[in-house]
Amino acid sequence: MNTANQSLKPVTTKINSEGNLEIGGCDLVKLAEKYGTPLYVFDETTIRTIANEYKNAFKDYPKVSMLYASKAFMTKAIVRILDEEGFGFDMVSGGEIYTAYTAGADMKKCLFNGNNKSYDELEMAVNLGVGLISVDNFLELALLNNAAKAADKKVDILLRVTPGIECHTHEYIQTGHLDSKFGFDLTQVDEAVELILEEYTNLNLVGMHAHIGSQIFETSIYYDEVDVLLKEMGRLKDKFGVELTHINLGGGLGIKYTENDAPPSIYEIAEKIITSIKDNASKYNVAEPEIHIEPGRSIIGKSGITLYTVGSSKQVPKGRKYVAVDGGMADNPRPSLYQAVYTAQVANKPDAELSETVTIAGRFCESGDILIKEVKLPSLEEGDILCFYDTGAYGYSMSSNYNRVLKPAAVLVNNAQSDIIINRESYEHLVSLDVIPDRLKK
Ligand code: LLP
Repeated sequence: MNTANQSLKPVTTKINSEGNLEIGGCDLVKLAEKYGTPLYVFDETTIRTIANEYKNAFKDYPKVSMLYASKAFMTKAIVRILDEEGFGFDMVSGGEIYTAYTAGADMKKCLFNGNNKSYDELEMAVNLGVGLISVDNFLELALLNNAAKAADKKVDILLRVTPGIECHTHEYIQTGHLDSKFGFDLTQVDEAVELILEEYTNLNLVGMHAHIGSQIFETSIYYDEVDVLLKEMGRLKDKFGVELTHINLGGGLGIKYTENDAPPSIYEIAEKIITSIKDNASKYNVAEPEIHIEPGRSIIGKSGITLYTVGSSKQVPKGRKYVAVDGGMADNPRPSLYQAVYTAQVANKPDAELSETVTIAGRFCESGDILIKEVKLPSLEEGDILCFYDTGAYGYSMSSNYNRVLKPAAVLVNNAQSDIIINRESYEHLVSLDVIPDRLKK
């Protein structure tokens, strides 16, 4: 059975009676007029559809927790939707913890993760009752134990490990291979466990955590990941008599950005994970653990699009034709950072013949600010509205104010209704944190 991460567009995408693209029952050209561009648009139906595909895929396994990887895109409205769907949140900073908490997430279902958490952030997590902390390194074991002791609490922890599994994705988004900045090497686990058992008495080790990489298309990797973690559980049971109860497998499932991408379905991933547990738990003489899954991109990537307005264009004599839009690398750094490839369609003439090969350039002062290289599109004119699919993950969350350009707004669409979920920045916002020292005042 197919799942929504395998199609190119949000599940509600269609061409309406006016001949324009529509998502969530909202005409994209009208959204651009109403809210301005660039504009991020998120489809609530797609978010909920995928969240439910995850729940269904794992429904026959009795002990599963779903945590949304907040780093992909987090705002209070998104927290509300996924909290309603029963998800917890994988959080990697005080800012993500604060957003989840103030939006009413169930903190017991949340996990705090990251390779260099500060004492203040650990203290915040302990005080706000974050359910699990994934400890990444020796320094953090000591810091967290101090924070837990100060709060007079015993804190449940996972050990983040590098399982030594390589995946075929961009080098910058691989994490599970041995030479990685994240987590304990498997050869360091014994020392960490000894410290927890003997010295760090405010920490309660309940399981292991790993994340192999992002935009993954290979299902066998998840089988291998479970195998490595269960083997480690068995080894710790034999050596220390410690019976771990949880494994957190991270996120990583890929999505279709272009017609050439063929990601697996959520059901295929679930099947690999559950099969590996059935095959390997008895082999390593451990109980079948509670599993935690942390999808980010596969939930929100497909649910979000970006609208841009076409501006200037330039035909290089005997060279490329560049068409510029009113956004670029500051609202979507992925093409320049990872050579990511996107698919675009013209919202006000989605059916027009693909008559020209053009390069879509951003508006930022850098030659590398190219959003799509050489793509066939209808002939573009100033004022056309371009819809970029699959920008929901790691777009807004990695956006910047490069060139002091204002960050775009984000709207949520559902049943022909649109609501702002992030306001567009204003020039007042932009300068609001700037300070002129007295001696420089005019
Ligand atoms: N869990 C952990 C521990 C992670 O490090 C990540 C992502 C996830 C879950 C969620 O992975 P996802 O399901 O979204 O693949 N900025 C990059 C992606 C970096 C991912 C970092 N970790 C990009 O734009 O491709």
